[in-house]
Amino acid sequence: MRNKVLIVYIATVAAATVMLKEFYHTKEYGRIKAIRFGIQTMNQSIKNVKKCDLSKDCPLSHYALRIKSGAANAVGPSICFEGDIVMSHGLRNVGPGLNIVQVHGNNGTIKRFDCLDAKDGMPGDTLTDMIEIVPGTIVLVASFDDVSTMMPEELKDILVRLGSTLVKRIKYRDTWVFAGSSGMTSPFEELTPNDEKTNKYGGWPAMAEVSGCFPRTF
Ligand SMILES: *[C@@H]1O[C@H](CO)[C@@H](O)[C@H](O)[C@H]1NC(C)=O
Ligand SMILES: *[C@@H]1O[C@H](CO)[C@@H](O)[C@H](O)[C@H]1NC(C)=O
Repeated sequence: MRNKVLIVYIATVAAATVMLKEFYHTKEYGRIKAIRFGIQTMNQSIKNVKKCDLSKDCPLSHYALRIKSGAANAVGPSICFEGDIVMSHGLRNVGPGLNIVQVHGNNGTIKRFDCLDAKDGMPGDTLTDMIEIVPGTIVLVASFDDVSTMMPEELKDILVRLGSTLVKRIKYRDTWVFAGSSGMTSPFEELTPNDEKTNKYGGWPAMAEVSGCFPRTF
């Protein structure tokens, strides 16, 4: 009786092993493996790719952003908002001077973007149209090449009212990035001074960069 049970058991295990081995060689198993690998890869990429290459997701009450200034007079700046690159060298919509994106802070839609060209000079009478101080509007700015000679005091005053604490210190060929909104003192600002002792590219400093989660405005 015991022997019979043992034989049945061994036979069952052997049959199951053969079936399993056969199954591993079937297309069906290959398909399951491929699907599992696909899901794993997808999971991996969802985990790793954050908006604007941040290291973590922003809370729902915030927008992801990353702003890079130009590098010397060679590589244009880039402005990323909520995972979309709005202005960049690659998109060919940046230029020497101030590159500015304005966003509706309540819903994150892009209101407008402009390049204030350093070479053509500042169109004085359209300046206040270009950067209005509208409560709730988020303003993102990246410098490219030299911006010190093209910024009238009127523009600097507007940027101070949007939360800049460094704009009045910008000197010849400094690189500068900024994100702000009226009524705040912005923590999203970086100024890299042009200093021949520390410059990365001869006559130009390293690019400036800020990134992080910007609070939604209402
Ligand atoms: C994919 O991620 C989900 C949720 O994080 C997890 O439950 C699932 O086991 C993962 N699948 C694979 C194949 O890694
Ligand atoms: C976003 O908000 C602005 C300002 O309130 C509004 O004009 C615009 O239509 C809104 N856009 C969307 C897609 O909701």
